[in-house]
Amino acid sequence: MEVQVAVLPGDGIGPEVMEATLEVLEKVLRKSPLFFKFKKALVGGSAIDAVGHALPAQTLQLCEESHAILFGSVGGPKWESLPPELQPERAALLPLRRHFSLYANIRPVVLYPELQHVSPLKSEIIGSGVDIVILRELTGDVYFGEPKGRRKLGDEEEAFDTMLYRRYEIERIGHLAFELGRARKKKVHSIDKANVLTSMVFWREVISEIHKNYPDVELHHMYVDNAAMQLIRNPRQFDVILCPNMFGDILSDEASQLSGSLGMLPSASLGVPALWDKNGYRFGLYEPAGGTAPDIAGKGVANPIAQILSAALMLRYSFYLEKEATMIEEAVRRTISQGYRTLDIYAALDNTRKVSTQEMAMAIAANIDFS
Ligand code: IPM
Ligand code: MN
Repeated sequence: MEVQVAVLPGDGIGPEVMEATLEVLEKVLRKSPLFFKFKKALVGGSAIDAVGHALPAQTLQLCEESHAILFGSVGGPKWESLPPELQPERAALLPLRRHFSLYANIRPVVLYPELQHVSPLKSEIIGSGVDIVILRELTGDVYFGEPKGRRKLGDEEEAFDTMLYRRYEIERIGHLAFELGRARKKKVHSIDKANVLTSMVFWREVISEIHKNYPDVELHHMYVDNAAMQLIRNPRQFDVILCPNMFGDILSDEASQLSGSLGMLPSASLGVPALWDKNGYRFGLYEPAGGTAPDIAGKGVANPIAQILSAALMLRYSFYLEKEATMIEEAVRRTISQGYRTLDIYAALDNTRKVSTQEMAMAIAANIDFS
């Protein structure tokens, strides 16, 4: 069976870490029952430079014809002077999420014990590791709520966005959170700001209703400001953290530090079940949670692990290749324990060696174990 993946490397470190990821994929898929076609297309600032638009029609068409999107990252200082609505993030990534109704963003935060010393948190707090999943709602909230705009009123000028959630949007992400929780430690923290915001009172109410279907899963409501504190005070109290779009954006960057580096954090964005199925495969977009890192782009030092682990999530969620996904995750684990470190996770210790993006990928590929 032939399947197709749209590969959109994007800007900054995107192309480098994508190259590295394709090498790992090539290795792990050698014995796969599926035949993969990877088709590259332009997106983001590089697409603006080439054809004048961050999400060219051809790219969108390729995505529509594919079973999944493997996405790098978009944006950078070069395009920051463009009008905001033409900038790569606003003109490419958000429309893609919206176009394919990718409402469920899964961001696993895992700290490997060997990287404990890289995390800015004390070892008493981090313990022997961290294993959290942030489930971020991705197509609602203040990101997409209407109206949005700017206006002048006499001498005054103002701008506004609307924090808006529809019942069905909260219900479907709520169900997924409890399903995830049920498959893990049976504990969900739902994040909101119900002490201030009406949309968040509604969020809390609907999540509590959905929870009635999952009596075996514990539900804790937590205000986002408190959650930001608890994440660094006592991260091990969390298992599944369910967040509205914007709070999830913020908390997932914070949580990345639990894993040592933003360069370690993969993500999967999944859509509405009715749109999932493409001949038995589930459509999704897979991207690192971090950005384009323009300061280190083109130097060959970026950490490819977030992109490589995103590819593993793609094999698992879109193609049901659980064995291959686990093989990648195990290979990453082994490579870390052998001491390979990119700049962002490097600390001079006896058993560590600083490696390039490419060397890290080669080590991971070499650690793919077919036995
Ligand atoms: C993320 C990013 C995006 C977001 C930006 C690039 C639009 O920060 O995926 O976390 O805010 O969702
Ligand atoms: Mn973000």
